[in-house]
Amino acid sequence: ASGVVRRDRFSGGPARSFLSSLAADERIFEADLEIDRAHVLMLAAQEIVDDETAGDILTALDAIEVEGHGSLPDGEDVHEAIETAVIDQVGEEGGKMHTARSRNDEVATCIRYRLREDVLDAIETTLALRESLIDVASAHTETVMPGYTHLQPAQPTTVAHWALSYEGAIRRDTERLLDAYARINQSPLGGAAFAGTTFDIDREYTAELLGFDSVIQNSMDASSSRDFLLETTQALSTHATTLSGLAEDLIIFANRGFVDLADDYSSTSSIMPQKKNPDTLELVRAVAGDAAGNVQGLTTMLKGLPRAYNRDLQRATTHAWDAVDAVTEASEVAAGAVATADWNEEALEAEAGEGFSTATGVADLLAANGLPFRTAHELVASAAEQGADYDALDAAAEDVLGEPLEAYVDPDAVADALDPAQSVASRDSQGGPAPTAVADQLEYARDAIESD
Ligand code: ARG
Repeated sequence: ASGVVRRDRFSGGPARSFLSSLAADERIFEADLEIDRAHVLMLAAQEIVDDETAGDILTALDAIEVEGHGSLPDGEDVHEAIETAVIDQVGEEGGKMHTARSRNDEVATCIRYRLREDVLDAIETTLALRESLIDVASAHTETVMPGYTHLQPAQPTTVAHWALSYEGAIRRDTERLLDAYARINQSPLGGAAFAGTTFDIDREYTAELLGFDSVIQNSMDASSSRDFLLETTQALSTHATTLSGLAEDLIIFANRGFVDLADDYSSTSSIMPQKKNPDTLELVRAVAGDAAGNVQGLTTMLKGLPRAYNRDLQRATTHAWDAVDAVTEASEVAAGAVATADWNEEALEAEAGEGFSTATGVADLLAANGLPFRTAHELVASAAEQGADYDALDAAAEDVLGEPLEAYVDPDAVADALDPAQSVASRDSQGGPAPTAVADQLEYARDAIESD
């Protein structure tokens, strides 16, 4: 049979295992069987293969599925191995399965078929993580905490405002993955090696059987493009980058005693008995590096590849699998860590005003009472150096303006501005941390999760 001829001519010799993707192809074993079935049904419907042979091939495919990937005969890849197994069962007629197609359109279809499912799982985990963050936000709209820029105390905010800042970023990560999904979900099947076929195939029919939204129009594009792998890996890498920031914040908050991670998401030390370390979050942070590496590997591989199919593409696929596995797992772990963490409200409140973080609010108050903001800034900066309380502000007013503070502003209003909770409550601009403003953000976030 033809399969035998091919195997004799290209045994692969010493390069056999280097050439073979059979082991890595386990991931697309089920996909390949589905694609074989769809292709055979189409060949029968178009009367390219008779119904009896098609039936025999379909029966063989079912048996191969039951036996599993591990029972496949040797082959350069899963496509060849399954074809050999079909021929072994059906006889030479089984070789009709590969009429009007190539492994090039076949593998492209398999990758898209499987990646679709994986990307949907990744999208699900982003939704679960957003839900965890929304739950934290709902429970902590009034929990004041220090807010940082440059990791220096900046202005007081709330745990809810912090949590929703990540929810918003992850919402865009979801959107990017959904966007990538729409372009994954197009069928290259029937593109053949790249140049179409003489047979009267029905590409729309196989696309429909396999649940693809549409057919990739140009057969050369269909069999050789991998931009869908690149954009998916990029979207995953972007999500991993968001996760790494979230993880880093939680690691810092744990360090300061602001948050207590559940034991399930912590590790201990083999020598230091008192230790409770945020190892899971450190690994989440590290996945961003791996995913960026996958984008880099993929981009470098695809750069300058000529049309049409080149075997380099076999090694492109694994970057996408690695990224989708690692990033989905990291996202799941992050969701679990967020959902189970305890926020230490007392420690957060005690530190919310650290480093004179209410200074901006005091300057705003003076400006609202008619002082030019730049002068107010100077006055409060001078008070920051003299003790950062009402007396310091009063002394600074004498220094800078030659008058006591109460000549400009009601002392009670200053006391409010110096209080972290009041400071937060007063910043009620759209998107701000005041509980009233956060209530709107929460509503928006809940609606967005419904529609995604
Ligand atoms: N295993 C290959 C891949 O993953 C598909 C086979 C195409 N091989 C070929 N020599 N045209 O890309």
